[in-house]
Amino acid sequence: MIDSPLSPASICAGLPTEFVGRRVFYFPSLPSTMDAAKRAAREGAPEGAIVLADEQTAGRGRLQRQWLTPPGSGIALSVILHPKLAYLRGLTMAASLATVRAIQETTGLEPGIKWPNDVLIHGKKVCGILIDSELRGEEVEVAIVGLGLNVNLTPSALGEIGGVATSLSAELGRNVSRLEVLRSLLTQIERYYVTLRSGESLHEEWRGLLDTLGKHVRVRVGDRVEEGTAFDVDAEGSLVVRRPDGAMVTIVVGDVSLRT
Ligand code: BTN
Repeated sequence: MIDSPLSPASICAGLPTEFVGRRVFYFPSLPSTMDAAKRAAREGAPEGAIVLADEQTAGRGRLQRQWLTPPGSGIALSVILHPKLAYLRGLTMAASLATVRAIQETTGLEPGIKWPNDVLIHGKKVCGILIDSELRGEEVEVAIVGLGLNVNLTPSALGEIGGVATSLSAELGRNVSRLEVLRSLLTQIERYYVTLRSGESLHEEWRGLLDTLGKHVRVRVGDRVEEGTAFDVDAEGSLVVRRPDGAMVTIVVGDVSLRT
């Protein structure tokens, strides 16, 4: 199921944003949009500029995983932003909320979020988010929000990962316009980023979409594993797990698997 290419002109025409997606760097194939976006930022690309690739040959996921983007199958996007350190962690919430809202708006599907920022439909991953930031002292030089969304992808094309992945087309049983989803996504990214920048918290809205809370989880945290009930998320977005002995542990970065 191959969708027509995403041209910069078709993305920008009538896009109701002020800065996100106003400058588009499009590539038919790239190793990873993350590295191209870092390069573009270093060379002076403005805030909100995006790097898009139809195919990635060395896409990166969180925790050193790989991310597969076969040609024509999805949205492989990196957005260049310059947040203040105070709301850098809020970008995780902004990016996952924007993705959920864009999917709802363009398809009517009802995704949820697996902590911290995987977007799931019926328990399977449709979108992964990776945020790379470069700091200088207390300043964020740049934050690259990387987002991989499976749009017109047959999950079995991903090999063994296919069992835990889904796509918008697999959920709907029909092809979906990547252009329409992308334009909605850019609009929502700007909306949530501007909210964050104004000092408002996205915590309650993001918390309300988390599928993870109340579930029995196993969380890989570096070399150790925490197991217990996902009790809550704090204002910064960290996961609070209640261990079987009742002790609470706060996890800033980790990888959750749900236990049944
Ligand atoms: C994850 O779930 O582990 C995060 C996946 C992030 C994938 C996106 S695709 C666009 C951007 N370029 C990359 O190499 N990675 C991110």
